[in-house]
Amino acid sequence: MKISNVFLIFVFLSLMAFSCRNTKVIEADISDDFDRTILNLSRSYFDHLPDLDLANMSPENRKIVELGKKLFYEKKLSGTKTISCASCHDIAKYGVDNRALSPGDKNQLGLRNSQSVLNTFMFEGQNWDTKFKNVEEQAAGPIFSKLEMAMPDTSELIKRLNDDPFYVKAFTEAFPDSKPSVSLDNIKIAIGSFERTLLSPSRFDDYLKGDLNALTTKEKLGAHSFVINCKSCHSSALVGGGFSVEYPIFGYHNDYSNNGNTDKGKYEVTKNPQDMHVFKVPQLRNVEKTYPYMHDGSVKTLEDAIRICAMAESNMQLKDKDVEYMTAFLKSLTGKIPVHALEKNKTFD
Ligand code: HEC
Ligand code: HEC
Repeated sequence: MKISNVFLIFVFLSLMAFSCRNTKVIEADISDDFDRTILNLSRSYFDHLPDLDLANMSPENRKIVELGKKLFYEKKLSGTKTISCASCHDIAKYGVDNRALSPGDKNQLGLRNSQSVLNTFMFEGQNWDTKFKNVEEQAAGPIFSKLEMAMPDTSELIKRLNDDPFYVKAFTEAFPDSKPSVSLDNIKIAIGSFERTLLSPSRFDDYLKGDLNALTTKEKLGAHSFVINCKSCHSSALVGGGFSVEYPIFGYHNDYSNNGNTDKGKYEVTKNPQDMHVFKVPQLRNVEKTYPYMHDGSVKTLEDAIRICAMAESNMQLKDKDVEYMTAFLKSLTGKIPVHALEKNKTFD
């Protein structure tokens, strides 16, 4: 082949590639008006996460939060001294362990998928069945749960901490007014205060604050589709839970039998027949990273979780395009890991 022909073919192929790219851009382009409409719609159903000012935290609060962090990584809080909160809620993995079910202190498996500890303090109820009011109340649950850390009783827990001069000093400094300072209440306050610093702001927060360039066109179209189809349950700053939505029955419209539907959900807590198989609407912040999905961890991919939730909750068979765009949107909720909370980082600055 002559050199000039090779050159012509090269030019032809380059033009083809260019025009294909161009078609894509045109296909996904949206008008300025629609761009604004999507932002306004998003703002009416979602909130950006609150800003966290670690540098200006009061010295008193900092002592409590730092103690809470230490306790979060403390294996002595488990019966066999082998696991800590971080074993199932790895901050580097966005607050989860990416297992369907988590092994406890003697490798015993739990019954539900571990949820993220990031941003979760904003929920009004904690755990899949909203058994606990807030993160402080929740913190004692896993310590004594036979399926998790299996600490035999409160006196053993307090004894272990009192035997360690580090903790005696840290508790006295963090809670100078309480006697005794090493107590279950103070453990709960310290761990809860630490969890209240676990925020993971993302590009979606910049968008909600008004930066139209923070999301791509595809993500915006996904946000639009999500608002139309999913906002009745997945709304507010956590894109889940909400504070006013009734907790729905998973599979209300369709017979999606998670775990053979053996998990009775909120009914386990209230014994109210209306709460049978009711689960909290999970947050979708960092959902790209918090696989596997659903209360039993039975769903492996985000695309499947989106399809299943649409079918189970709204009796809706989503088009492939909608799933693709919503997936893109949900991935824009992947935020920054709160690095001060990583075990290796000793300071908060
Ligand atoms: C063995 C694994 C394991 C350990 C250890 C563990 N958790 Fe969990 N965590 C889970 C599972 C599983 C759930 C869901 C439980 C449920 O809904 O019944 C959960 C739920 C939570 C939630 C509720 C999140 C939400 O969105 O509602 C918080 C908060 C939490 N854990 C904090 C902690 C803290 C603090 C510790 C340490 C004191 C801890 N966890 C120890 C597995 C674990
Ligand atoms: C009627 C309320 C409701 C509606 C509407 C709804 N969801 Fe859900 N969603 C839930 C509940 C409840 C769960 C948890 C169910 C379980 O684990 O049993 C969930 C779970 C999920 C999960 C898995 C999250 C995780 O961490 O396990 C994804 C992803 C999801 N929904 C996406 C969507 C999308 C996308 C839409 C819209 C097409 C939607 N949902 C509509 C209530 C709802």
